[in-house]
Amino acid sequence: MSIKEAQTIWMDGKLVPWHEAQVHVLSHALHYGTSVFEGIRLYETPQGPLFFRLDAHIKRLFQSARMYRIEIPYDVDQVMDACHELVKANDLSNAYLRPIIFGGYGSMGLLPKKETPWHLAIAAFEWPSLLGADGIQGGVSVGISSWRRPAPDTHPTLAKAGGNYLSSILICEEAHRNGYDEGLALDINGMVSEGPGENLFVVRNGKVMTPGTCHSILEGITRDSVMQLLAERGIQVEETSIPREYLYVADELFFTGTAAEVVPIRSLDGIQVGGGEPGPITRQVQTDFFGLFNGSTPDRWGWLQPLLYAHAWF
Ligand SMILES: Cc1ncc(COP(=O)(O)O)c(C=O)c1O
Repeated sequence: MSIKEAQTIWMDGKLVPWHEAQVHVLSHALHYGTSVFEGIRLYETPQGPLFFRLDAHIKRLFQSARMYRIEIPYDVDQVMDACHELVKANDLSNAYLRPIIFGGYGSMGLLPKKETPWHLAIAAFEWPSLLGADGIQGGVSVGISSWRRPAPDTHPTLAKAGGNYLSSILICEEAHRNGYDEGLALDINGMVSEGPGENLFVVRNGKVMTPGTCHSILEGITRDSVMQLLAERGIQVEETSIPREYLYVADELFFTGTAAEVVPIRSLDGIQVGGGEPGPITRQVQTDFFGLFNGSTPDRWGWLQPLLYAHAWF
């Protein structure tokens, strides 16, 4: 899916033209995967453009950095301000934002040294839902990957770190090669983990489950939002261990994520899920989630944040 380029990218405190946001080939992150990043959406709503849980995303960015002992040369408010400035400067009303902190050029060798600069760049651009409008409407086909997610004592999946996405690429590539729309990974013990860029929900016998955080997942912000939206309807989601076999006998399965949003799964490994159509709980979650942006779901949580005329940087 190609990108609709915006005009500028925020880089180390300045807005630079889109094609001038460049790095040196000896940047640490390019060789060793030393980056942490976020994906955030800004939605066009009847109240104008609103960020969805910007604060939660920036907090997770800082937590990912902390797990790798990366010192971010800004604070949370400064990074949030920068997101506001960037969107304003590019006059966007519907966008995906990608803040990334990465090890730059300064020294060679595995361990980042004190000469290794940590850069912060933020790009914002229009980006449709990852698995397509048809996927959101009719559901996607999913195949379980032969690649497992990393074991908990290898490297942290709770950090949204660049290096983790080599695992996601293998899962996704294998799925596409086998004719599926998306892949799904198991953890090191063979329990259900997550998609390459999405969390999974399982509905079985009226119960809603999602893999717990000890199953090598990213603790998704959409996952958390969906759990709260379901709680509002009196449905408690169980964060638990889910055996693979449950997926073949589930009534409903769906993915959640910032890029993908809420996507029904219509088949798994070629086996139809439920009746082959998105089920009632999936549809309810979609209505409640997308309703936040069309005004039909009241935002009781303060998740939606208007664009501010910010200051400070320029
Ligand atoms: C591996 C992985 N799991 C889950 C998610 C969903 O997380 P979120 O809802 O915070 O976007 C993502 C996307 O960020 C991801 O990359």
